[in-house]
Amino acid sequence: MSLIRGRFHKAADKLAAEYTASSSVDWRLYPYDIKGSIAHVRMLAKQKIISEKEAEMITEGLASIREEMEQGKFQFRVEQEDIHMSIEARLIEKIGEVGRKLHTARSRNDQVALDLRLFTKEAISETITRLRKLQQALVNLAERNKDVTLPGYTHLQPAQPVLLAHHLLAYFEMLSRDAGRFSDCRRRADVMPLGSGAVAGVAYNIDRDFLASELGFSRLSQNSIDAVSDRDFVVEYEAAASLCMMHLSRLAEEVILWSSAEFGFIELDDAYATSSSIMPQKKNPDVVELARGKTGRVYGRLMAMLAMMKALPLSYDRDLQEDKEGLFDTVDTLLSTLEVITGVIKTVKLNTENMERAAGRDYILATDLADYLVSRGEAFRSAHNIVARLVSYAIDRGKSFRELSLDEYQGFSPRFGQDVYSITVASSVAARDVIGGTAPSQVARALSRAKKLLGEVEGEGWS
Ligand code: ARG
Repeated sequence: MSLIRGRFHKAADKLAAEYTASSSVDWRLYPYDIKGSIAHVRMLAKQKIISEKEAEMITEGLASIREEMEQGKFQFRVEQEDIHMSIEARLIEKIGEVGRKLHTARSRNDQVALDLRLFTKEAISETITRLRKLQQALVNLAERNKDVTLPGYTHLQPAQPVLLAHHLLAYFEMLSRDAGRFSDCRRRADVMPLGSGAVAGVAYNIDRDFLASELGFSRLSQNSIDAVSDRDFVVEYEAAASLCMMHLSRLAEEVILWSSAEFGFIELDDAYATSSSIMPQKKNPDVVELARGKTGRVYGRLMAMLAMMKALPLSYDRDLQEDKEGLFDTVDTLLSTLEVITGVIKTVKLNTENMERAAGRDYILATDLADYLVSRGEAFRSAHNIVARLVSYAIDRGKSFRELSLDEYQGFSPRFGQDVYSITVASSVAARDVIGGTAPSQVARALSRAKKLLGEVEGEGWS
């Protein structure tokens, strides 16, 4: 029988009980629930709300329930609604009447808010750790291939040559912003709600500061009504996860493109590729395709959460129980995606010759020719126009820039001289010597900044 149906004359309808039960989802909160309960009873004893002896019995009971959970011996019962009631019911079964004192000065509303905050804080730490590992893998790949150039693309058309390291560090920047967002989110998750009770606060002489320090929170919630109904931290995690997945989907997309026969820039390690059931020659990038695909479900979880919370009257409403499935799924999806993409990056084989070849193709140095004319006194817009006509001329004759004679160049502008032939991919890259540009010296600076950031414990420099 449920612990809390005292006022009713019959048990809940079976379907209604199953419909409202959440233990199949919220069982994952058990370590946080038990941790929170142990801190709570310690506080109750310290404040003489229950005796030391009672607190000890409850603490031991809770610890042994944790063991049952860890060994998979715990029986969930649907009539107990959720993990919180299941643990309490089991406690009473194990230690008897004294177990009924655990819920003194507490409501499931502040209890569930606490558990979810503890879960989210831990999830954030793990997320940041995995973001750093992926960043490290990108930095290592960049370091090992410092001198490789490839086309920088705009509109997926070759635009200007860039260093591969520069391209890889673009992802480093995105992931730094992600880590920054997760640590912002942690600040707002790091608020201790116990003491809020059901809605109005509790009518006992409790010590909230003690609870916060036992449970590792830096602040106390300041309004009980808000504290039991606030799930901003869930929305924020899911929003930060959505942005992060968007970044990962862009990386995944480039891995897919680059491993195609048409690009031929990279080859996936066999461990991260799949084969076709019909075409024996295929090496498919399913792993990264799924990373790209799972982005959609993470966005969906964010939208579901925002829609669920829209216009909810204060304070706690049972709708809020729907917060967990999406959060857990978001955390699982993001963590596994980060891990698998890190594996892909660590093991990917580069076909640097193909990259270099592509970097030297397709009039990719056209901007440099325009810049050359500017350095000889031409206005940029006119220089752009001259080079555009030159490109069209060269395309018509099937010639590259190198294959044009100086006469042909000078037919477009008398400013062209012999030194136009010294414009190369390397000179083009070296010329972009601005902070944030692709010149080797700038990229070397960016790499050492990245390594320094990864070396810092808390990543203070993360945006
Ligand atoms: N299972 C509920 C949840 O996850 C716990 C809180 C229930 N509170 C209540 N008053 N029914 O949100």
